[in-house]
Amino acid sequence: MTTYQHDRVLPYDDSGLSKTQQVASMFDDIAGRYDFLNRFLSGGVDLWWRKKAISELKGPDAIGSCIIGSGAGQILDVATGTGDMALMTFKRLHPQKVTGIDISEGMLALGKQKVHQVGLAAQIELKSGDSQAIPFGDNSFDAVTVAFGVRNFEHLEQGLEEIKRVLKPGGKLVVLEFSRPKGAFGHLYQWYMGRVTPFICTLLSRNKKAYTYLGKSIQAFPEGADFTAVLQKTGYRQPSAKALTMGICSIYTGIK
Ligand SMILES: C[S@@+](CC[C@H](N)C(=O)[O-])C[C@H]1O[C@@H](n2cnc3c(N)ncnc32)[C@H](O)[C@@H]1O
Repeated sequence: MTTYQHDRVLPYDDSGLSKTQQVASMFDDIAGRYDFLNRFLSGGVDLWWRKKAISELKGPDAIGSCIIGSGAGQILDVATGTGDMALMTFKRLHPQKVTGIDISEGMLALGKQKVHQVGLAAQIELKSGDSQAIPFGDNSFDAVTVAFGVRNFEHLEQGLEEIKRVLKPGGKLVVLEFSRPKGAFGHLYQWYMGRVTPFICTLLSRNKKAYTYLGKSIQAFPEGADFTAVLQKTGYRQPSAKALTMGICSIYTGIK
């Protein structure tokens, strides 16, 4: 199994804990401010990115059993965090059920609160679970989404293979992840992520390391064609990549 450069980018380099443990602890620490910082740093554009990603699951050519409004389909949201993707997926596609898993209890607790507040606890279940050992049987889900999660996996290929295992044959994986804009805008963006983001986040979240990690992990992550090559290597058919907002973010898809 290949080790990728980003596997070695750690939130708290010197702690002696594994990347998975460090990532869980970092998200536990920032959970209370995560949603606010997400909206603030992206200027709300992340909501549009999420909608675009979810729309990959609409229509008969997406996955036969998950047509919008049909009430069919089991969807898994891996690295669900505070549940934004799970909630939006349910509201837009009306599947039978959305299940979200995450390694951070702090993020999950907030997600569960949000799900209860909108009365969707019977339709959206959020629970503890690691992408690298998904707690479900083979061929369980019609579709899997991962928003801003794959970059944090300690073992990228293992996570993608586990997702493929729980997908039904013909099921679709949709990944939303930061990528790296090119050209002059790319330089400006690098400066924003390297200097401005950690500064704002230190003020607002008192966790500079979390947002220094964000910038470093984006830099090291295999994006675009490199990521579709990983999808292909891990056995997905028809891997595709689509850049959004001048390449700040990308949607990747693959079929089991
Ligand atoms: C940037 S947040 C994204 C949360 C949510 N998907 C969203 O769109 O807002 C990344 C999440 O990935 C989770 N995560 C990281 N590694 C994971 C793994 N191996 N398995 C499950 N969740 C993981 C973290 O705990 C965190 O909640």
